Amino acid sequence: MVLCMDPGSFACLRLWYHQRDVDGNRRDAGIGKGLLIQLYLAPLRGITDYIYRNTFAVHFDGFDGALAPFIPTVTTDRFKPSHFKDVLPENNSTLPIVPQIISNQPDDFINLAVRLFDLGHTSVNWNLGCPFPMVAKKQRGSGLLPYPEKIDAFLEKTVSSIPNRLSIKTRLGRRKISEIFELMPIFNKYPLEEIIIHPRTGKQMYDGKVDLDTFEQCLEQSVHRVVYNGDITDLKTFQDVFDRFEGIDGWMIGRGAVANPFLPAIIKAGKDDIPQKVEKFRQFYEELFEQYRQRFSGPGHLLNRMKGFWTYFSKSFQNSRKIAKKVHRTQRMHRYLEIVDRFFTEEAQWKE
Ligand SMILES: Cc1cc2nc3c(=O)[nH]c(=O)nc-3n(C[C@H](O)[C@H](O)[C@H](O)COP(=O)(O)O)c2cc1C
Repeated sequence: MVLCMDPGSFACLRLWYHQRDVDGNRRDAGIGKGLLIQLYLAPLRGITDYIYRNTFAVHFDGFDGALAPFIPTVTTDRFKPSHFKDVLPENNSTLPIVPQIISNQPDDFINLAVRLFDLGHTSVNWNLGCPFPMVAKKQRGSGLLPYPEKIDAFLEKTVSSIPNRLSIKTRLGRRKISEIFELMPIFNKYPLEEIIIHPRTGKQMYDGKVDLDTFEQCLEQSVHRVVYNGDITDLKTFQDVFDRFEGIDGWMIGRGAVANPFLPAIIKAGKDDIPQKVEKFRQFYEELFEQYRQRFSGPGHLLNRMKGFWTYFSKSFQNSRKIAKKVHRTQRMHRYLEIVDRFFTEEAQWKE
């Protein structure tokens, strides 16, 4: 086994896998043995924070690492401790993470990346995908994609100035998929660690189909490792993209794993034979609730956070709309607790 000096880096994990599997090829070793498939938890701001990630890692298997939700840059180098809470090493001992930065200001990005390096993060990720209009209209996230010259200048300045390795998470464009074809040659000029591609435009938000043909062209054009991200919700959707994109060994899953936290383990095993899912899920949920209850100041915050989770959780149960509706209508914590307790005790059936 390779001695890994840099446990927080995805590339390091990859090296370790390759070393273990030096005699096999991807097909021989692939699904079913848990080798050469790297699964990463996608960043979902407001959902996959360190409390969620740690609780997840205690209850479920399958993820090799996570990309933390984005941290915005600030124009001063006097960061508040709360700025880094989600990525502090002491809050991330269960699952390796890479922090993500959103910015269009190279100097601010460099400041933050250096600060993260001092905390032990030898890799950072640049968010070029956020589709939310409030972010994109300020030319951040996917809002920067129509400006290849700005992205080039940004990378020119930052790559040589930061001590961390840099990866990028991107979409195909803000409005048009043609934007990515202007960007691939620029990405190829720099020593990036990897590019994570969610094959939608920013304008699409999370609607419509993922564009696998355009993703395939990006894959052909990239000199870097490419990680696929988008709409993996079960073993079948994973197997479809796995079979189509032979060159890929890294996969990132967001909403599908929040809805069904057994999914990464199912993908690694290549089969779904996990018993007692409702009971196991309930134990996870109860610990998650308790962790947030201890940290959040008032019931309003806690209730809102739980409603956010149930948007996804409900999808894994039969009659998912019923429980989602009940939870979202609730305004009082005691009522919420009754609804969820009754759901788990009397109604919950896993959607197989
Ligand atoms: C609520 C929410 C928050 C998100 N926050 C981030 C973020 O902080 N950084 C990022 O790169 N992507 C973010 N994303 C996008 C996801 O990481 C991912 O690219 C997207 O959900 C598609 O993957 P999936 O189909 O596996 O969920 C977010 C998505 C959602 C729905």
